[in-house]
Amino acid sequence: MKVIALFFATIAAASAFAPSTTIPFRESAPLFAQEEEAAVTAVSAMEGPRPQIQFVKGLEEKAIPKVKLTRARDGTSGIATFLFDNPNVFDASTASQGEITGLFMSDEEGEISTTDVNASFSNGKPQSIESVYVMTSPEQWDRFMRFMERYGEANGLGLSKA
Ligand SMILES: *[C@@H]1O[C@H](CO)[C@@H](O)[C@H](O)[C@H]1NC(C)=O
Repeated sequence: MKVIALFFATIAAASAFAPSTTIPFRESAPLFAQEEEAAVTAVSAMEGPRPQIQFVKGLEEKAIPKVKLTRARDGTSGIATFLFDNPNVFDASTASQGEITGLFMSDEEGEISTTDVNASFSNGKPQSIESVYVMTSPEQWDRFMRFMERYGEANGLGLSKA
């Protein structure tokens, strides 16, 4: 009985050590990450700043919003409604970086923004952000659409037109 018990113990020990065979993979992982980072840097150097959304200047919002677009029939005005569920601007680690002062959309052409931004709370904790961007001319609409195209391409965002 003792031998059998020892045998099992050995198997358990062997499988416990088995993960050590993956060490070469772990060693190569940082190399891969560096290559990837270099590739991303090279791409953004070619195409200008990465399109992004911020609520606090200097802090990229990584949550991908739902975006609803409505446009007047004559094209003279439009409204984009953003809904961010659980945005990282609410993270404890980033909360110290500043107050939410608006929704800032930036890309290679510059920045467009709105201050119509509301947070909604659940059990006293911030849960989501809703923001409305109003466009009052075809030029503003086109500019916004160029941002959304770039932002969507960079983040895999789908638009639902209403
Ligand atoms: C934010 O709240 C104000 C005041 O209740 C409201 O007028 C505005 O429409 C809200 N905006 C959004 C984007 O929800």
